[in-house]
Amino acid sequence: MNVIDVILAKRDGGELSAEEIGWVVDAYTRGAVADEQMSALAMAILLNGMNRREIADWTQAMIDSGERMDWSALDRPTADKHSTGGVGDKITLPLAPLVAACGAYVPQLSGRGLGHTGGTLDKLESIPGWRASLSDDEMLGVLRAAGAVVCAAGGGLAPADKKLYALRDVTGTVESIPLIASSIMSKKIAEGTGSLVLDVKVGSGAFMKTEDRARELATTMVELGTDAGVRTVALLTAMDRPLGLAVGNALEVAESVEVLAGGGPADVVELTVRLAREMLEAAGVEGRDPAQALKDGSAMDAWRRMISAQGGDPDAPLPRAAESEVVTAPASGVLSRLDAHAVGVAAWRLGAGRERKEDPVSFGAGVTLHAKPGDTVRQGEPLLTLHADDPARFPRALAALEGGYTVGAADGDRLPLIIDRITA
Ligand code: URA
Repeated sequence: MNVIDVILAKRDGGELSAEEIGWVVDAYTRGAVADEQMSALAMAILLNGMNRREIADWTQAMIDSGERMDWSALDRPTADKHSTGGVGDKITLPLAPLVAACGAYVPQLSGRGLGHTGGTLDKLESIPGWRASLSDDEMLGVLRAAGAVVCAAGGGLAPADKKLYALRDVTGTVESIPLIASSIMSKKIAEGTGSLVLDVKVGSGAFMKTEDRARELATTMVELGTDAGVRTVALLTAMDRPLGLAVGNALEVAESVEVLAGGGPADVVELTVRLAREMLEAAGVEGRDPAQALKDGSAMDAWRRMISAQGGDPDAPLPRAAESEVVTAPASGVLSRLDAHAVGVAAWRLGAGRERKEDPVSFGAGVTLHAKPGDTVRQGEPLLTLHADDPARFPRALAALEGGYTVGAADGDRLPLIIDRITA
């Protein structure tokens, strides 16, 4: 086969065959197709799209580029969740042990943050001693001990995606729905879960800014999962404002522990319980109510086992930033808008996120919210607290927040927390 013919076919709006797709993905992974050729093909896909069959073949080719995990030795069903990422989205932290406490195994491979959204591994690494890198045997051991494991994906899982994602990042081809859907789903299917719940975020703080784009991505991923034999369902959820009251690694761990202790902000609790119910239903596990497992301490017990089994100390104090700066309400009235993207960028500039993937993160840095959109505030009262190790970071974080919130006489429009549910 000739790579130029494949590029020309897609450039001219044609459909690629299963053989062409399997060949080009494999040849690219082996280095027989050059980066500049794959860039041209990725751009042709971004501009001209792929149909359902092509996307499924592309996903399969990426799965076939590496290993596939197998949990058949476990005696209970497996369930996983993937979020497309947002500001203050710490849901995996309470959710994984909660679902484990209700009877399903949760083998979750997660990532680190890049840009204004945080990564689950960065959050968990703020717990002293906790380790993200586990061998397959260690992963199985943690699953057996705690029912849930959250760790980094090894290099053997979908290596084609790893190479292609790095290329897309520098060639303006990240935003293609067929490429995003196949990238996410190749890793999730290779991870070997029996069921999957997708949390597709919508709004300024999300990858997908509009409901239409989010719906298209969710539908594409649900179809891919279903076609691959994974019971898959998606929720479209709000990311026009931050989730919960804490944005930043250790701050989000502390908020997650509050949820596991039966407290925590209402939106985090509602989404955690809803996603848990969806995961248990998709896995076919009946009987235990997630809301009850948060109240009776069994989810907290699973959390403590999971953290300890990965070397962490669940009782150790969490890192705190050395400096803080309070942003006060400019007027009395209703906080009608608090923009997720502005808060995410502020937290990132405070040191909670990284600019290049090799940068370290500051575990204590971030933003604490004292009010949520819809709350009444009084002029001069704290609205947000910024946390950073270095006070020189405050001016740029404050600049990110300029125009990012409104206090007025009337409440503003907001997306419902759970916008829609998408099934095959
Ligand atoms: N996350 C992924 O894993 N892949 C994409 O393409 C986008 C987000």
